[in-house]
Amino acid sequence: MIIRRAFMRKPFIAGNWKMNTDMAGGVELARGIVAGVSGIAGHSVDVAVYPPFIYLSEISKALSSSGISVGGQDVYFEEKGAFTGEISAVMLKDVGCVRALCGHSERRHVIGESDELINKKVKAAINGGLLPTLCVGELLEERQAGKTEEVVSRHVTKGLEGLCSERMPAVTIAYEPVWAIGTGLTATPEQAQEVHAMIRGLLAKLYDQGLADEIRIQYGGSVKADNAAELMGQADIDGALVGGASLKVDDFVAIIKAAE
Ligand code: PGA
Repeated sequence: MIIRRAFMRKPFIAGNWKMNTDMAGGVELARGIVAGVSGIAGHSVDVAVYPPFIYLSEISKALSSSGISVGGQDVYFEEKGAFTGEISAVMLKDVGCVRALCGHSERRHVIGESDELINKKVKAAINGGLLPTLCVGELLEERQAGKTEEVVSRHVTKGLEGLCSERMPAVTIAYEPVWAIGTGLTATPEQAQEVHAMIRGLLAKLYDQGLADEIRIQYGGSVKADNAAELMGQADIDGALVGGASLKVDDFVAIIKAAE
């Protein structure tokens, strides 16, 4: 049991399945998580999963009444129309989603999404009734060049541009240093805490201290059962966005329990 700080932000653990699982495997994974965290999910810890778009319907059925929420790994900023291959917030809600990731590092760096596009997605998610997670984080060369604060501040500031304080409580921020994603390299708890504290300070400047104290900031990047508790013991780390380890029931359940 982690002793939490003065501002009680409920821990939030989310599993980003990326382009993994098939239909049957995804449903089995979802059912395994439900069995492993009943009585915890939605009570002492908020839990969410982000399956591939095409499995969302089935996964949200498998998770109904479990307290585990479902989200899209991405969301397009238009509501409908001639946008081949894209999925809107309305469509995500229609299949049971309450959340969406915006600006995951693989979308920034593999697909090439800009801060401007990500900002439109964050706003569209909220306008469409979803809770967005804005993902931010520096590349290895940016960290080595001493640019972590500059890059992360830009991702946060531009990602939230035009978002008034009334809408901000819908937002979660995920700090994911790109060099730690899927590499087995985790930021040390101190390295992660330093950036999380910087982000919270920036939120206080952009909005106010009360709001900054309310917003949850997840850490992501090779979070595993054996490093989760130490990371989440840091004052400004409010949970985790988990990739690889969220695909194994036992590992993901252990991470959720470490956040309790
Ligand atoms: P990882 O992925 O846990 O496999 O490093 C994290 C993420 O990309 O959200």
